[in-house]
Amino acid sequence: MSSEQSMRVVSGIQPTGDLHLGNLLGAILRWVRMQDEAECLFFLADLHALTIDVDPQQLRSSVREMAAALIASGIDANKSILFAHSAVPAHAELAWLLGCTARMGWLNRMTQWKDKAGKNREGSSLGLFAYPVLQAADILLYRATHVPVGDDQKQHIELARDIAIKFNTDFDVELFVPPEPFIGGGSAARVMSLRDGTAKMSKSDPSDMSRINLSDSDDLVAQKIRKAKTDPEPLPDDPKLLDRRPEARNLVGIYAAVTGDSVEEVLARFAGQGFGTFKPALADALVALLTPLRTRLDEFRKDPAMLDNLLEDGAAKAAALAAPTLANAYDSVGLSRARNA
Ligand code: TYM
Repeated sequence: MSSEQSMRVVSGIQPTGDLHLGNLLGAILRWVRMQDEAECLFFLADLHALTIDVDPQQLRSSVREMAAALIASGIDANKSILFAHSAVPAHAELAWLLGCTARMGWLNRMTQWKDKAGKNREGSSLGLFAYPVLQAADILLYRATHVPVGDDQKQHIELARDIAIKFNTDFDVELFVPPEPFIGGGSAARVMSLRDGTAKMSKSDPSDMSRINLSDSDDLVAQKIRKAKTDPEPLPDDPKLLDRRPEARNLVGIYAAVTGDSVEEVLARFAGQGFGTFKPALADALVALLTPLRTRLDEFRKDPAMLDNLLEDGAAKAAALAAPTLANAYDSVGLSRARNA
């Protein structure tokens, strides 16, 4: 086990729906870059996917599909450990121990819980409510130092910090490393819907036109950008002037994140021009980013046995890294777990 000083990166994604541009810019392409800087563990949060209604057949294929999408995006199983977290039982086990440390009040404040349960709290699953505790287990199990996520996950990572600190304090141990949310700069942290610049791009949005999916054809990407909501004004030269124009700000932010330019540079290029000019340029930039990934995705999809082997291998490596922390956690609370369990 590496010490607290060395950098260990852990992050996950739910294997539901297609990988979309928000996932890619907010998380996955940043994971890809971090592979060369640190020890990385990335997983498919398939246990999280159970918190809302599931179709077992669909879930099974979604796990493979998302694994293929991550590899197509550049996650390299020779550099990173890639696995499905249901294949490492230590996640669920630690979640129980941490569930006895986390407070109901903390979970009640989670905005994702409030959003997802809506007015139907009583009818929501206990899993939906407790899911941030499982997420804390996902992170603390590996003593992660950095958790690269989009802005919408910040509150969950802060909760994991609070749980780590309370557990360490309650049991007078220095077991868990309070993790840092590691959020990408600028617009990539929060990619918004193409239909409403005040709502995040999300796989749960009923309108497919609200998001760009990795599996969208070039024509569909161009069509979605053409139809993206905008306003009639030309683009300004000052980023502050985008503050009251959420849709324009989002499209400029996406262009900047995709090309690697700053928002200032993008505006310097397009100031004074309308969306009739900007949108085709944005569509071209997106197609240039996504087409090679989609081509790779199509290849990996054809090889489910390779994907299964790779995930199995990743799960074995992850389980070995998780075992000492889980044993210590049991020990800390006064339980001893059979060593060969
Ligand atoms: P999930 O599956 O909703 O999203 C995966 C990653 O994509 C980021 N993301 C976005 N970033 C910018 N703009 C957007 N519109 C956008 N939409 C999604 C998310 O912030 C996330 O980084 N609970 C997590 C999965 C998880 C996890 C973990 C993450 C489970 N255990 C432990 C980190 C550490 C989730 O549902 O992400």
